[in-house]
Amino acid sequence: MTETELRLLIDFHLLAQRQGPGSDTDTLRALDFVNQMSVPNLNIADIGCGTGAQTMVLAHKLNGNITAVDLFPEFLDILRRQAAEQGVSDRINTVQASMDNLPFSSDSLDLIWSEGAIYNIGFEAGITYWKSFLNSGGFLALSELTWKTNKRPAPIQEHWNREYPEIDTVSGKMRVLEQQGFIPAGFFFLPYESWMETYYKPMRGRFDSFLEKHGHAPEAVSIVENESLEIDLYEQYKDYISYGFFIAQKR
Ligand SMILES: C[S@@+](CC[C@H](N)C(=O)[O-])C[C@H]1O[C@@H](n2cnc3c(N)ncnc32)[C@H](O)[C@@H]1O
Repeated sequence: MTETELRLLIDFHLLAQRQGPGSDTDTLRALDFVNQMSVPNLNIADIGCGTGAQTMVLAHKLNGNITAVDLFPEFLDILRRQAAEQGVSDRINTVQASMDNLPFSSDSLDLIWSEGAIYNIGFEAGITYWKSFLNSGGFLALSELTWKTNKRPAPIQEHWNREYPEIDTVSGKMRVLEQQGFIPAGFFFLPYESWMETYYKPMRGRFDSFLEKHGHAPEAVSIVENESLEIDLYEQYKDYISYGFFIAQKR
């Protein structure tokens, strides 16, 4: 990806409530499986936090300190502004870092949260690397693109095998977690609304202003075309694919 394409992609997602499928309801549902609401002084990392929709939910519901990590400072600036507006700045600190080079010490975290982001370094590589930062008994909660069925139509299979070869079924993802020393603690698929209402529909609503702002530059047009294709594919094949939310505890 060129620097121009990257800058445009950041700009495209900057004003979104979420940078991937998900909702506050999903974050709360995953938190129920973690069941740490009454534990004091938790040390939490939210990796690939984007502008921090889920970080705000965690800050309101959990007692402790959250380190929100993202590669792009533009997202972290918005996250800090939201934290200030919601009165939770004292519980969140932001760190600009890559998720494959994190500034945590071994066994220092009680909870690692990551919504729709681990694919950037791959599910298995991410879990293998991140688990050393968790205390034993600590929790991992992450959402990840997952097949809903054992077989699916060729167009969707080929598209996602090309875009994200590590895509797998729930049992395949759970096996990775178990092999990496985790005990499954919960799972659910994100519902249709968490794709359409909180992510794709608002995104569609930004297409025209984004293209106008960037003078219909070819790179901007390409972003809109790619996202449109992804929305069409999702709508057509939603019975076969979703984000799975995986919650697991380190042995
Ligand atoms: C699909 S978005 C999800 C954002 C947010 N968790 C949400 O659900 O709205 C993926 C996030 O990962 C971040 N990201 C991409 N590569 C990264 C890396 N190597 N290290 C840290 N963050 C990264 C992106 O900037 C983006 O905010």
